[in-house]
Amino acid sequence: MMRKKMKCLPLLALLMSACSTEKPDGTITVDFNAKGADIPTSMYGIFFEEINHSGDGGLYAELVQNRGFEDTSIPEGYRVEGNLLFPPEVHNHLTGQKPAGRHHYRWPTEEIPAWELKQVQGTGASMELTRQQPLHPATPTSLSVNLPGTDSRVTLSNSGFWGMNIVNGENYLLRFYARKDGQYAGKLTVSLVSPEGKILSEDQLTLKGDPGWNEYKMTIQPKDSSHQGKLMFTFEGAGHVWMDYVSLFPENTFMNRPNGLRNDVAKVLQDMKPAFIRWPGGCIVEGISLSNRIQWKQTIGDPMTRPGMYDTWGYRSTMGFGYHEFLQYCEDIHADGMFVCNAGIGCQGRVGDACSEKDLQHFIDEALDAIEYALGDETTEWGKKRVENGHSQPFPLKYVEIGNENWGGVYAKRYDKFYKAIKAKYPDLTLISTLGLGGQKEHEKVDMIDPHWYVAPDMFFMNDKLFDEQPRGDYKIYVGEYACNIGVGGGNLLGALGEAAFLTGMERNSDLVKMASYAPLLENVNDRVWPVNLIWLDSYRVMGRSSYHVQKMYADNRPSYNLNTTITQPRMPVKVNGKIGLGTWETQAEFKDLKITSSDGIITTVDLTKTDLEWTPKAGEWSSKDGMYIQTGTGSQRWTTWDKTKFNQCTIEFKARKISGNEGFFLYFGVENEDGYTLNIGGWGNRKTAFEKMNNGGLSQMTGEVAQHIEEGRWYDFQVVLADSMFTYYCDGQKMLEMPVIREQRYSIAGFDTTTNEIIVKVINAESVPFKTTIDLKNVQVESSGKIITLSSVSELDENDLDHPDKVIPVEKTYDKFKSSFSYTFEPWSFNIMRIKVKGGK
Ligand code: AHR
Repeated sequence: MMRKKMKCLPLLALLMSACSTEKPDGTITVDFNAKGADIPTSMYGIFFEEINHSGDGGLYAELVQNRGFEDTSIPEGYRVEGNLLFPPEVHNHLTGQKPAGRHHYRWPTEEIPAWELKQVQGTGASMELTRQQPLHPATPTSLSVNLPGTDSRVTLSNSGFWGMNIVNGENYLLRFYARKDGQYAGKLTVSLVSPEGKILSEDQLTLKGDPGWNEYKMTIQPKDSSHQGKLMFTFEGAGHVWMDYVSLFPENTFMNRPNGLRNDVAKVLQDMKPAFIRWPGGCIVEGISLSNRIQWKQTIGDPMTRPGMYDTWGYRSTMGFGYHEFLQYCEDIHADGMFVCNAGIGCQGRVGDACSEKDLQHFIDEALDAIEYALGDETTEWGKKRVENGHSQPFPLKYVEIGNENWGGVYAKRYDKFYKAIKAKYPDLTLISTLGLGGQKEHEKVDMIDPHWYVAPDMFFMNDKLFDEQPRGDYKIYVGEYACNIGVGGGNLLGALGEAAFLTGMERNSDLVKMASYAPLLENVNDRVWPVNLIWLDSYRVMGRSSYHVQKMYADNRPSYNLNTTITQPRMPVKVNGKIGLGTWETQAEFKDLKITSSDGIITTVDLTKTDLEWTPKAGEWSSKDGMYIQTGTGSQRWTTWDKTKFNQCTIEFKARKISGNEGFFLYFGVENEDGYTLNIGGWGNRKTAFEKMNNGGLSQMTGEVAQHIEEGRWYDFQVVLADSMFTYYCDGQKMLEMPVIREQRYSIAGFDTTTNEIIVKVINAESVPFKTTIDLKNVQVESSGKIITLSSVSELDENDLDHPDKVIPVEKTYDKFKSSFSYTFEPWSFNIMRIKVKGGK
């Protein structure tokens, strides 16, 4: 998707870059003799999960939605009320709590999703789901069509995943099962139609006379096209017909695999040159509760026999893109496989139940069998099944992650057990723990830990050095999920630049960070369950957001090793100016004696008896009593702001006492609309205190934190000093935390590519003004001609969409002024890669 194009720089940028005589305002120094860590080929991979219809209705090429009529099969132990699904009343293994009423999930409103029956002639026709005489025990539901009138003409149509892309000249493979009673004569017309009713193809067949299920297959050749096509069956005459497993695929799938992948989507992923693919997720590994976790053995074999599952993300998935197809795709695009198994624990952010220790062996065996399926030979039970499923050689499985986003002592011990059992048989596999930074300490032995970040761009801009500070030891890091998806940086160039900045830290620390994958990967735009996803698609189009291009630019420009790189830039102090506020998180608390002293000595004492008039609660139950302001509501972010005055440099003092709940207190400051800062005291499960940046109400921790636990029933005395470029926090008169706040939103890393003999310099300018820089390449002679690739746009809020896929895309140009020391002006809001040839090689 890279192309050369002319672009209009914003006026300021043009003016500034035109002033070539102006002094550079920064320096990037790259020392060719200072070799850093090797950057492994494993570094950039992809994370697949069935979410946002990323598989069914996305990568998986099946065109029929609800092909097995199982979409409204209720998961065992669950119940449905209206359009809500409720999980079983089982205990969370850490808190002991049972799910409360708010733990519910969406459920389809239609009785038979995606299918429609229309009486064209006659009356009385109907359809219903039935579990009598199932086609296969694993898929018990089928469709019963009742045609009472002899003059009946009835159509049964499937709308696909928000339309089927039918292309004139392509072949489509139809497979379905039907049975009929003795009355129905058997005439059946199969058509593809446009939404306007135009016939794109029409084929006739006669259903067989015997009463059991019969399989029908045909190749359909449409004579016209539609992006919103439907599959339609027309029945004529009286009788009863049952249908099941109605499947339609384009013949032309990725590498022509049967039960294959959509060509265009598979290619967009292939273009990222992923070193690895993670499957199947994500939360669906764990299930809403343990009982509806994904079970890999139900995702292999004839797709007709796969039960599918009601997915954690609010719809039933066929699991047509199952374990075998995932491994096949890895092999096809030369990626290593990463399988994620369940650690005997349901999603801890949802129900969080756990199997008993006695039952854990079952889960360990489930993981061992999955590995054997991928790697074992035909003498092994599961290796033999792989061979029977058409793949004689082992698949490239290299990593196993044990669980997903699990935490706590139960999990840590379970990981150790899985680790021993798997390593004993497969010592070469890399085994990943779901624990985040510091998690290595919780385990007896761990190959990799997997921290996740879904944050606002500021969090990444402020944390490019995070990995520089992580301890080195007998473990590595895989950043398994990360994305800017909060606030103004959710899904636009600003977010993409935040990710690019954070990636500089990963690449520079590649002795420790060995792998990374953005998440989530794919979204069908008709079902955005998760707020920000890398690649968007509909029935016939697919395109990468700006973040996709950042991912691809990193993967395409991965040097062999790092070169020591330093950057100097103008420091811009952060000026706080806005309202102050108070808050809690899953906690009830009282506040009093709120006083603000501005830098010129003026003292404002806030009268907390007038809260009705002067404060605006955003969430929570706030009331005043005896000069105290009290929050008694339940729930996460509960906060209120004082509207009378705005403050900049000042000292804020207040007292707070916790009544009950899980955490401590929040002080808000610099609040303008829903942007600003907080001090989160006793946050993160009452473990620590840190400053946070608030974007659009979403919070991201700033670097720096202090361990702190807030006790119930005790008054604490707090003081926060907001000075130019520094926030300081005191508790009960003791200095707890100092936090420098300076904007330095230019980043650079460089490395050397031994295969092409090029220095690769990456530069991010995440500011609204150009960055004129001297680039000093020390201890090396370079060719003058090379290339520069730039991802940028006029506004940092710009983003691609399906109608405008090329708004924010990389632009490549040749550049012939490279020298050992040269200057260059980087556009505002840009991610740049320079590829500079070294003279004579190294
Ligand atoms: O990527 C979406 C979800 O975010 C994943 O399923 C989960 O692991 C995380 O919470």
